Amino acid sequence: MDKSLSAKEEIKYIVQPGGKLIGTIRVPGDKSISHRAIMLSAIADGVTEITGFLEGEDALATLSAFRKMGVMIEGPKNGRVTVHGVGMHGLSLPEDTLDLGNSGTSIRLLCGLLAGQKFNTILKGDDSLAKRPMGRVIDPLTEMGAVIGSDEGKVPLHLEGGKVLSAITYELPMASAQVKSCLLLAGMYAKGKTTITEPAPTRDHSEKMLAGMGYPIEVDGNKVIIEGGGKLSATGIDIPSDISSATFFIVGATIAKGSDVTLKHVGINPTRTGVINILLQMGADITISNERETGGEPVADIRVRYAVLKGIDIPVGQVPLAIDEFPAIFIAAACAEGVTVLTGAEELRVKESDRIKAMADGLKLLGIDASATHDGMIIYGGLIGSGEVDSLGDHRIAMSFAIAGLQAGGTIVIRNCINVKTSFPNFVELATHVGLAIEEHDD
Ligand code: S3P
Repeated sequence: MDKSLSAKEEIKYIVQPGGKLIGTIRVPGDKSISHRAIMLSAIADGVTEITGFLEGEDALATLSAFRKMGVMIEGPKNGRVTVHGVGMHGLSLPEDTLDLGNSGTSIRLLCGLLAGQKFNTILKGDDSLAKRPMGRVIDPLTEMGAVIGSDEGKVPLHLEGGKVLSAITYELPMASAQVKSCLLLAGMYAKGKTTITEPAPTRDHSEKMLAGMGYPIEVDGNKVIIEGGGKLSATGIDIPSDISSATFFIVGATIAKGSDVTLKHVGINPTRTGVINILLQMGADITISNERETGGEPVADIRVRYAVLKGIDIPVGQVPLAIDEFPAIFIAAACAEGVTVLTGAEELRVKESDRIKAMADGLKLLGIDASATHDGMIIYGGLIGSGEVDSLGDHRIAMSFAIAGLQAGGTIVIRNCINVKTSFPNFVELATHVGLAIEEHDD
């Protein structure tokens, strides 16, 4: 029996001030790509060998859901997973509810994939997932003919099987790769051609992987078109390191004098590199080398050295390309000279926590002049002090305040850090290895 992903113990980080980051490291595999690798290889024809898989709780929740639906999956072991695909119609009724823990990507993509199956499924998650909006996937899926029961668009979601889905033409009301991907997965099971229009470019890992596994998909400007009735062929998938996890070291090395860190084999898909564009505009010293392609995704080594940063108005076009990196970018802004202004980022309010509120509260507590706005934040660079902040169980908030310790005037204590395991299980070990004075305590 799987341990419930919803009941968790407490972990806190204690970070001593100062230090610098030195060394060469490889952060774990990309979370978004790890989810998609399991989902698509599970319904492919043939056996897929995955390398670089993220052994974090979110991606493991996806893996375990497919095991429950009858897919034979070997591993993970050192990032290696072997998936014995069951074909487009080979999934079977799970014995119980699928628990996706903290993972929004898992539940939203699975909704699309499972809406067109013959059997019923119930999807649930932890307290954070229970607060997040699911109407954004329920509404368009319902338009396609799916029947999904929920209490006001919140988990648990009850998906009725045996429904015939029809293709739709859908304009995404928000820039969301999760909603886009959900509809692409449902579109594979729908009659006709589903067309999705995005208001701004978002991560395109689903499109790339579908094409790489031989499923016809058309990308035409801001439209993605997929026709039902195709199939997927197994292939090797090498998952690059996650730029979202690399970000904590990119920001850490940028703000700490004397730092020089190289991050190996990081995914630099242009739909994910907003953080690099933003930090470069602020004056960061970042060099990209050894650019190559793996599994259809661009990767490179990223070297970061300390630099003096200046505050900027963050270009709105970069927001969806850096959406998961804002907690760390706010730390960079707190260490910059002058004011940084973020707008157009209301999506941050519905992530694993309300990231605008969580970061503004934490920064203020540490002595930084930061004000939350409805869709962003205004941060005046200053001196980070000391204190005890609450990550609200949000992995990226926890890691962002951890690297703030490099520039802090005193000890920073961060509560509620258990969910770092969802995306970066060896964060404390790697951070310690390159020079962050961080300790993990059971509370
Ligand atoms: C993801 C898309 C983004 C991102 C999330 C992962 C994905 O969410 O924040 O961490 O893998 O598709 P939205 O689509 O809600 O913006």
